[in-house]
Amino acid sequence: MIRVGIIGLGMMGGMHYRAWQEIDGAEVVAVADADPQRAGGDLSTGWSNLPGAAKQLDMSRIRGTTDARELIAMDDVDLVDVCVPTPDHAALAIAALEAGKHCICEKPLARTAEQARQIAAAAEKAMPKGFCLPAMCVRFWPEWAWLARMVERGTYGKVLDATFRRVGSMPPGWFGDGKLSGGAILDLHLHDTDFVKFALGKPVAVHSFGRVGKTGCVDQLVTHYIYAGDGPIVTAEGSWAMTDGFPFRMGYTVNFERATAEYVMLREEPLVIYENGKAKSHACEGGDGYHNELAYMAQCIASGKAPSIITAADAAESIEIVEAEAESIRTGLRVEV
Ligand SMILES: NC(=O)c1ccc[n+]([C@@H]2O[C@H](COP(=O)([O-])OP(=O)(O)OC[C@H]3O[C@@H](n4cnc5c(N)ncnc54)[C@H](O)[C@@H]3O)[C@@H](O)[C@H]2O)c1
Repeated sequence: MIRVGIIGLGMMGGMHYRAWQEIDGAEVVAVADADPQRAGGDLSTGWSNLPGAAKQLDMSRIRGTTDARELIAMDDVDLVDVCVPTPDHAALAIAALEAGKHCICEKPLARTAEQARQIAAAAEKAMPKGFCLPAMCVRFWPEWAWLARMVERGTYGKVLDATFRRVGSMPPGWFGDGKLSGGAILDLHLHDTDFVKFALGKPVAVHSFGRVGKTGCVDQLVTHYIYAGDGPIVTAEGSWAMTDGFPFRMGYTVNFERATAEYVMLREEPLVIYENGKAKSHACEGGDGYHNELAYMAQCIASGKAPSIITAADAAESIEIVEAEAESIRTGLRVEV
C-alpha cells in the first residue's frame, strides 16, 4: 500500500483526494493545510472552476496537521503530494525528496524555471529511492494522450498545423497576484506549451504576442512555436482575460496530412475526427488527467520504474519556454529556446 500525504487542501488538494480514493494500492493517510478547518477535513469553502473536487474528507483514518513539515517528517508517509500555491512548491517538494519520500508536485512545478531546476536536481539526487512526478495533467488527459499517440504512430500522417486554446476568467485569491501565480502565461498556458513539446517536439524558437493583465504578468497571449525546416505550424492561445462568468474551456484543432482532429470542450461529443469527407466522434476511455497522473505514479512506485512520461527536468524546461514567451512579448522579437 502506498501511503499518501497531501499538502494543500484547496481545489487541487480536494481533486487529488477524490482521485486517490479511486486508485487501488494507495491510501491517503495524512493531510496538511495552513488553514485549521481544512486540515480538519472540511473543504466546503474555497474556489473551483472544475467539477470533481472533494468537499469533505473522511478523517477517520487520516491525520490532519497545519504544518507541512510535520507531514513530510511522518514515518508512515511514502508519497508527498504537493498541492499548495505555486510559490511554496520548490521548498516543499525539495524537502519531501530530501526526506526520502516520493513526491508529486502540482503544476507549474515552480514559480520560476530556476526553482524548477532546483527541484529537478533534488529529484535526480533522490533516485532511485524517491520518484518525482510533476503533475502536468494534460499529458494524461485522455483526449490529449490520444492525440500524442496519433502523432507518434503517424496514424493520420504527419501534423501540418495545430492550434491549442485554453481560456477562462481569472481565478480568485492568490492567482490574481502575478508575483505568486505567474499570471495566465505560467499558471494556465504552460499546459499547452508543455503539451506541444511533448507531442510535437521542442520548438527551436517562440514568437509570442500578448499583454500584461491584472496580475502584473502576461494574462493573455498567442504563441507561435517555431519548428525548423518543414515542421508543423503550431500556435496556442491562453487567457485569463475572459469576462467573469465565461466558462473555462480548453481545446485543439490538429490538421494531419489525412485527417483533422478537433476537440471542443462543452460540445456534446467533444472530440471529432474528420477523415475521407466524414465526421466521426471519438470517445476516449479512462478517467481524467488527475486520476490518470496519480494512477501512473502509483504504478511507477509499485513497479520500481521511475516516471518517464514527464520528469522534473522536462517540466523545468517547459517553464523555460514559457519564460522565453514572456521575453518575446516584452521585446516583440522571436526568442530561441
Ligand atoms: N492541474 C490543474 O489543472 C490545476 C488547476 C488549478 C490549480 N492548479 C495548481 O495547484 C496548486 C494549488 O492551487 P489551488 O487552486 O488548489 O489553490 P487553493 O487556493 O484552492 O488552495 C491552496 C491551499 O493550500 C493551503 N496552503 C497554502 N500555503 C500552504 C502551506 N505552506 N502549507 C500548507 N497549506 C498551505 C491553503 O490554505 C489552501 O487551502 C497551484 O500551484 C495551482 O497552480 C493546478
